[in-house]
Amino acid sequence: MSTAVSPPSSDDAHPLQRWFPQRWRDHELLDSGAGARLERFGDLVLIRPEPHAIWERGMDEAQWRRLSAAEFVPTGRAKGHWVPHQSVPDNWEIQYPLAKGNPLHFSLELTRFKHVGIFPEQAANWDWIAAKMGPGKRMLNLFAYTGGASLAGRAAGAEVTHVDAIKQVVTWTRINQDLSGLDGIRWCVEDALKFSEREVRRGNTYDLVVMDPPSWGLGPKGEKWKLEEQVLRLVSATAQLIAPGGSVIMNTYSGLSPSTLENLWRSVLPEAHIDSGELCLRSGTGQVLPTGSLLRLTRP
Ligand SMILES: C[S@@+](CC[C@H](N)C(=O)[O-])C[C@H]1O[C@@H](n2cnc3c(N)ncnc32)[C@H](O)[C@@H]1O
Repeated sequence: MSTAVSPPSSDDAHPLQRWFPQRWRDHELLDSGAGARLERFGDLVLIRPEPHAIWERGMDEAQWRRLSAAEFVPTGRAKGHWVPHQSVPDNWEIQYPLAKGNPLHFSLELTRFKHVGIFPEQAANWDWIAAKMGPGKRMLNLFAYTGGASLAGRAAGAEVTHVDAIKQVVTWTRINQDLSGLDGIRWCVEDALKFSEREVRRGNTYDLVVMDPPSWGLGPKGEKWKLEEQVLRLVSATAQLIAPGGSVIMNTYSGLSPSTLENLWRSVLPEAHIDSGELCLRSGTGQVLPTGSLLRLTRP
């Protein structure tokens, strides 16, 4: 009996797709390594923890220290504080130029959880959204944070529904909407899963659903969100919300690989066209920093 192993099919050699934002002028990843990233937001250079960056830095520590205005020092799993190296404003503004129309504007600040109010790698999705959306299109943004995706959809003329559990985060997005010269986004302070399942019961559909579920979270009424336990329920509900020809963008920052995202969606929409891979930032010193898994899907 032959024990020969069959040669790899083209699927076995599937190349990893990587998406990078293309148009930033107000953001730059200068370097990464030793568990941190050095990046510029407008005129301000910050050092923040980055668990993926376990390699050597491209620049030395003295250069990081000299360039940076502040550093987030972690003191626990989800805790820490900012140490200023220079004077830092309470808030400041940056812009993202879409290929068409006015730039998107974001108000930034140093938050208690190392974030500043934007995930810059998401800009790769904003361009895709702006190209897909237009007047008469309907878009749903779940776990929407400060709304980069919502602004991109609205800037292209779509009717946008923005869902996040935290009222203050929605208020922050409204400021970004005003700064960007936009209006008309529909705001929902709601649990994303509950909202999606209710939309299914109402028979509503969307041309694009964007979702960026965290590994854990809380809805406004204390609804517990745990990614691994509830993601299939979320995917099953939102699959029913996609209009024929409509699309999905799903991101995860921790835990689920591109293949896991692909399997989840194939199990509920087997006929859809799916691309999956990593959303990344390229540093000035040449590294590719992976920032999470990304899936883009279009149904027939
Ligand atoms: C990782 S952030 C999303 C970042 C966003 N995609 C961006 O690029 O700006 C996750 C968001 O999910 C929200 N969230 C957490 N649990 C939620 C829940 N159960 N329902 C709705 N939103 C929730 C948080 O308030 C937070 O704004």
